[in-house]
Amino acid sequence: MGEKATMVCIPTTSGTGSEVTPFSIITDEKTHYKYAIADYALTPNMAIVDPNFVDGMPKGLTAASGIDALVHSLEAYVSCLATNFTNSNALEATKLIFKYLVRSYNEGANDPIAREKMHYAATIAGMSFANSFLGLCHSMAHKLGAMYSIPHGVANALLIRQIIKFNSTDKPTKQAIFPQYKYPCAKTKYGQIADNLGLGGKNDDEKVELLLKAVDELMTAVNLPKSIKEFGVKEDEFMANLDILVERAFDDQCTGANPRYPLMSEIKEIFLNAYNGIV
Ligand SMILES: [Fe+2]
Repeated sequence: MGEKATMVCIPTTSGTGSEVTPFSIITDEKTHYKYAIADYALTPNMAIVDPNFVDGMPKGLTAASGIDALVHSLEAYVSCLATNFTNSNALEATKLIFKYLVRSYNEGANDPIAREKMHYAATIAGMSFANSFLGLCHSMAHKLGAMYSIPHGVANALLIRQIIKFNSTDKPTKQAIFPQYKYPCAKTKYGQIADNLGLGGKNDDEKVELLLKAVDELMTAVNLPKSIKEFGVKEDEFMANLDILVERAFDDQCTGANPRYPLMSEIKEIFLNAYNGIV
């Protein structure tokens, strides 16, 4: 009594990074409201990251958790709170995921190297966003996933291309609330990710397009849906709940670190594009 227990976390999926982060997600099952809580007291004292625990992970979970880890590294890298310490981990995780997720998905336990690398990538991405936080994709995915019972990784997949596009601007409507930069630089940072992946491109605009194409191809390779409509959410239900979703997403704890500060109307447009699969 009176002493904090030692917390040891052992991940059994390759995605959340929770074993090294101060984040926890709570869901109110009555209201379908999902909310992130963050406190460094929630950071485990020890993480045991052993790829043997994910040998039997089914394909759907491999795809969804793998894309979740990718979105962690992408959002961490462009976050307003990113630093030199978090950037290196985010870039490494992104590279590992692009190299090994499809192999891990296709071969499962028959490709222990790919399983191992994906398991490490998820933790490395976790180390990055534990210190730089995430962004608008997670804000929107939390609320979308809770309302329509969409697995967290899939909800992120359904939004990340639209978020990359939204963030890749030189002229945001509003400046981000943690302005450590002299000017918006998310587009340049996505370009750096594309460079690190060897995607080519002569300028930042081309590099962002090539990154979007690479994310799209990865989603195809692991059989993820490309739109909220394709996932199976009915249009009339989606439209009826849209304004509530927008407000909840704006209010999410992850919104503050997004490199572009969103207006409610902009969040609504992103949701509509994601519903129809427009990037
Ligand atoms: Fe996540």
